[in-house]
Amino acid sequence: MYKKFYGLTRNPFGISPDPYFFYPMPSHTEALANLAYGVLHRKGFVVVTGEVGTGKTLLVRCLLEALSKNKIAFAYMYNPMISVSEFLTHVINELGLLPSPIRTKSDALSRLNNYLMERSRRDLTTALIIDEAQLLSWELLEEIRLLTNLETTKHKLLQIVLVGQPELEQKLDSQQLRQLKQRIGLRCSLKPLEMTELQGYIHRRLELAGANSRASEIFSDEAIDVVQKFSRGIPRLVNTLCENSLLLGFGHNQHQITPDIVQEVAEDFRLDSVAEDLFGRFDESKSQSGVESK
Ligand SMILES: Nc1ncnc2c1ncn2[C@@H]1O[C@H](COP(=O)(O)OP(=O)(O)OP(=O)(O)O)[C@@H](O)[C@H]1O
Ligand SMILES: [Mg+2]
Repeated sequence: MYKKFYGLTRNPFGISPDPYFFYPMPSHTEALANLAYGVLHRKGFVVVTGEVGTGKTLLVRCLLEALSKNKIAFAYMYNPMISVSEFLTHVINELGLLPSPIRTKSDALSRLNNYLMERSRRDLTTALIIDEAQLLSWELLEEIRLLTNLETTKHKLLQIVLVGQPELEQKLDSQQLRQLKQRIGLRCSLKPLEMTELQGYIHRRLELAGANSRASEIFSDEAIDVVQKFSRGIPRLVNTLCENSLLLGFGHNQHQITPDIVQEVAEDFRLDSVAEDLFGRFDESKSQSGVESK
């Protein structure tokens, strides 16, 4: 609706993770390089964590595109809240090992093993990518660990990528999973955007959406400061703030987004600014220590 008004050809701040809009900020570029390296060099387990909305699923989609280009077979799972048998069926399905029905768990595992051995003989890599891995049950995590026992004398047959929120780190640090933890070959985490990166991120998305040379004019520098203040550099929040600021700017017939527009959107979305959050914590700690806050 507002696209024409700003001279855009597509929506710049959609919240679905579209690799077309990938902006190479340092922690994302490093994580993507680590993921690709880990899979291609058969490091066994690779783990990526990041706060909600920092770009994990987008990273997974970029990785899947890269794997497809390199002819690496993979099974992808984005909802791991399933039973062990559903999990094995899903992996086998994704790798295209059906049609004959799987009778037992050992049947599933031996089919998988044969397939992986066959690919390994042809020097081909196979990967299992799990998004939302913080939701994996203990039982499934143990089953996944056992899959890394499928190996030749030289390397693991299945490369496993676990991507999840910080709770995944805590799970992996638990005593129960120490065996799995020892098998992790690479580990990295996604960080929110720094102020200098945020500007590049917003300009890049606008440019890719068709703004071209006007990309750096649509949001004033001061408006970007306010985006940083309320989003804390979390890309999903940045997108929500920017998308709705464009809509509001359009409603007010304003071709440039000013700080007051972003502020109004942040209030509508009930987002706390970094400063308010710090004061909130300060008050909390005072009341915990018995000091009343007035
Ligand atoms: N490096 C980036 N370049 C461009 N867009 C990004 C980048 N990182 C994140 N985004 C955008 O931020 C939004 C949130 O990303 P995504 O859904 O991947 O987050 P997530 O970490 O998987 O969140 P959740 O923890 O809720 O699953 C998406 O619109 C995505 O396109
Ligand atoms: Mg996600």
